Amino acid sequence: MLNRYGPGHGLALDLASGNGRHSRLLASLGYEVVAVDRNAELASVYDPMGLRFLALDLEQATFPLADVQAEVVVVSNYLYRPHLDAVSRLVKPGGIFVYETFGQGNERFGKPSNPDYLLAPEELDRRFSNSFETLDSFFGEVDDPSPAIRARYCGRRRV
Ligand SMILES: C[S@@+](CC[C@H](N)C(=O)[O-])C[C@H]1O[C@@H](n2cnc3c(N)ncnc32)[C@H](O)[C@@H]1O
Repeated sequence: MLNRYGPGHGLALDLASGNGRHSRLLASLGYEVVAVDRNAELASVYDPMGLRFLALDLEQATFPLADVQAEVVVVSNYLYRPHLDAVSRLVKPGGIFVYETFGQGNERFGKPSNPDYLLAPEELDRRFSNSFETLDSFFGEVDDPSPAIRARYCGRRRV
């Protein structure tokens, strides 16, 4: 989605970043990337790429990145609703928030099946409607890379 908005500049956060597939994309678009994941061993993935990595638990009672403001925040295949608003506040006014994970109904296909990890249709559109303009949104069944219910959201923070 992000490459639709032209060359990147400024800080991009990749939260629950795993092996960094989105961090690499963001870096290739020109963003200054900070990847965050609780798995400290992932530093060995990011160091050779020259990307900053923070080993942080994003589910601490006090959200750990509260003072940061980024041009772009990307979250993929991770959901922790208690800090969703705090995550959205990491996006600067005018900045872009990209979220993609599994959706309700995915239990038909396997895991994740825990409702805590499954977004409802338009859940993020509704939750962030006051602070974000929805740029793109999808909820439905996909076949690639395997059958699943996926929820995608891309919003621009209102200025
Ligand atoms: C399924 S992977 C997704 C990785 C990447 N975002 C992607 O889509 O390729 C989920 C990631 O979330 C991280 N994670 C899970 N709980 C976390 C937490 N409390 N704080 C930070 N990272 C967490 C895991 O370590 C794992 O790397």
